[in-house]
Amino acid sequence: MRYKTLFLFLILALALVACGGGNNTTGSEPAAPPEATPAETSMAQQVEVFSWWTGGGEAAGLDAMIKVFAAQYPDITFLNAAVAGGAGTNARAVLATRLQAGDAPDSWQGHAGQELIGTYVAAGQLEPVNFLFEANDWLAVMPETLIPLISQDGNIYSVPVNIHRANVMWNSPTVLAANNIAVPTNLEEWFAAMDALQAAGMEAPLAMGEQWTALHLFETILLASLGADDYNALWDGGKNWSEPEVTAALEAFAKVLSYTNSDASALSWQDAAQLVVNGDAAFTVMGDWAEGYFREIGFEPNTGYGWSPVPGTAGTFQFLSDSFVLPVGAPHRDAAIAWLTVAGSREGQDAFNPVKGSIPARSDGDRALYGEYLLSAMDDWASDIVVGSLTHGVVANDSWKSEIDTALGLFLVNKDVAALQTALTATCAGSGPCN
Ligand code: GAL
Repeated sequence: MRYKTLFLFLILALALVACGGGNNTTGSEPAAPPEATPAETSMAQQVEVFSWWTGGGEAAGLDAMIKVFAAQYPDITFLNAAVAGGAGTNARAVLATRLQAGDAPDSWQGHAGQELIGTYVAAGQLEPVNFLFEANDWLAVMPETLIPLISQDGNIYSVPVNIHRANVMWNSPTVLAANNIAVPTNLEEWFAAMDALQAAGMEAPLAMGEQWTALHLFETILLASLGADDYNALWDGGKNWSEPEVTAALEAFAKVLSYTNSDASALSWQDAAQLVVNGDAAFTVMGDWAEGYFREIGFEPNTGYGWSPVPGTAGTFQFLSDSFVLPVGAPHRDAAIAWLTVAGSREGQDAFNPVKGSIPARSDGDRALYGEYLLSAMDDWASDIVVGSLTHGVVANDSWKSEIDTALGLFLVNKDVAALQTALTATCAGSGPCN
């Protein structure tokens, strides 16, 4: 009898905890939604989460969010199914194979935009998560620009955990000071700076890594050379890839490549970033996950590394957003919902992002937790023109991106601008909006 009373009391207490804060509109974190309370998901036991955040500045952020998850859902074992390799080049191939074999993880890291909508949603692989947005009042705190990029026909298909900036140029303050060089603000100044560095004996002032980092560099030079409007028009069919402005952009890209290291294809993005903080190169163009890496390996902002928008792109924020999905037929659906609840929460995002080198997707992050670079990124995100990244899934679906990547691979070998432009024009007709 005493146990029965105790049991009833416990049930009541849990119910009160689950209901409390559900109508919270003050911006503080609402309680977990009814679909995913710790009590209900305790039966689920495990959640397998797939990403490519395995180290080199990437895993630390994920670990911080896993800690929040473990504290909130102590009965669910977190299975980290991360596959190494920057930008997910390896991981996404593994994921595709798993999905084909009907072996979906419970949730995976995807990119807001065409990667999500034009690839996974198009293939019918995702369950809408509107119920989570409603239960947690996320529409009130997630950026308006982002919602259309994760939605189709009124359905929302992922939970964005962050905003990364792609068009960042990292520099070595030591190298610049030693050579009396100011941070360049446009392509001409940048070329002049790199000419001066080469004349002073630095063979490759711009550090680059394997092919996806060349694609990343390429998208930023397209933006620098074309400007935001024409850059956007390339992706919606408003501007033809055969036009002379694109020729000029490709020529600028060819010139940028002439300043890069000859062993690029053998280096990861971390290796390339390392060349800068070691003073062996002056610049590298990389998304702001590089900041997470610089911090992890012990360098300080402004003294160890400096940053600026890629020359010619100030005032524009070329963005991407990591977001987690709920697959159709998730093996542990309730546990997946618990993970997504943490990924979308203020606490989860404020644990993850200061370490990862990204700003929270939510607008109510606690600024006190973020370092100098990320505070500047938050301000730029709020005031800049926002355009999407190609390499990280925003502007093109997987098939278009992979056709562009193939054209780029040939170009890296033959440096033939006319052939690249012909190939790019064909990709837009093949998989893009140009037909
Ligand atoms: C991006 C991803 C980032 C970061 C980067 C380097 O695609 O969105 O979070 O992990 O790759 O691996």
